[in-house]
Amino acid sequence: MKRVRKAIFPVAGFGTRFLPATKAVPKEMLPVVDRPLIQYAVDEAKAAGIEQMIFVTGRNKGAIEDYFDEAYEIERDLIDKGKRDTLRLLDGTRLPAGGAVFIRQQQMLGLGHAVACARDLIGDEPFAVLLPDELLWNPKSPCLAQMTETYEAKGGNVIAVLEVPADHTHRYGIVDPGTVDGLVTEVKGLVEKPAAGTAPSRLAVIGRYILQPDIFPLLARGERGAGGEIQLTDAMAKLIGQQPFHAQTFTGDRHDCGDKAGFIQANLALALERDDISDSIRAFMKTL
Ligand code: UTP
Repeated sequence: MKRVRKAIFPVAGFGTRFLPATKAVPKEMLPVVDRPLIQYAVDEAKAAGIEQMIFVTGRNKGAIEDYFDEAYEIERDLIDKGKRDTLRLLDGTRLPAGGAVFIRQQQMLGLGHAVACARDLIGDEPFAVLLPDELLWNPKSPCLAQMTETYEAKGGNVIAVLEVPADHTHRYGIVDPGTVDGLVTEVKGLVEKPAAGTAPSRLAVIGRYILQPDIFPLLARGERGAGGEIQLTDAMAKLIGQQPFHAQTFTGDRHDCGDKAGFIQANLALALERDDISDSIRAFMKTL
């Protein structure tokens, strides 16, 4: 079985739910406590053994490239001033030479199209996809590492899911479940944003995927789905039955940071885990 070595981060979206902030700053650069969202996703990928990070960007996303580059002036200044601890804060932003690749999605035709843009960079091997605006928080057992374990046992394709309330299923891709084995559910079908009352389960897809390269010819057909977009879910649905396909229920905290309330909640939850600020944040929240 081929190991998962490469990950795609689709970051071309406009982030309209965060305007005006995202007029000039990519959504993925908005900080949760002191790290931009993209850093959490890259750390998760690293923890799962990913060696090459492929960022599918768009216009106005240059800040992401700068972020993973050297910051010569800042680093020189910190070295000169002997501020080693501050310098160490930048460690996670350093990727090995060739470890970060940037390509552009010229037109926002949907998530499936964004993934298809990385086709030639992936080649003929399995790969991961991480949506950075989903902050999946379990530092001891990160989501993609949980999925990699299942991939190594079952092969094929593995997607992360969480059970959502019945009245939320219309917002997500939803799994039609087969056999359940603990946290791993066989996927018999996938439906993108099912109309209220029609969802085959409450297992929602939450922005982490391990996929086989066979998805690329399906995406290349360019078929439009929900919202007129080239949907990743629709292409995945065509692989079901041809290859093993499993859903891994994520154990940990999910914060939907593409949404204002989820983003603020992520900041509060993660701030409460930081020794240097948790007391003052907790005290302040009590005053509200
Ligand atoms: P979203 O639906 O959250 O869209 O995309 P968005 O543009 O980022 O945010 P809003 O809804 O306008 O506020 C989910 C993920 O897919 C990527 C986005 O960057 C995000 O990570 N995406 C979506 C692309 O890269 N290209 C697309 O054409 C569509």
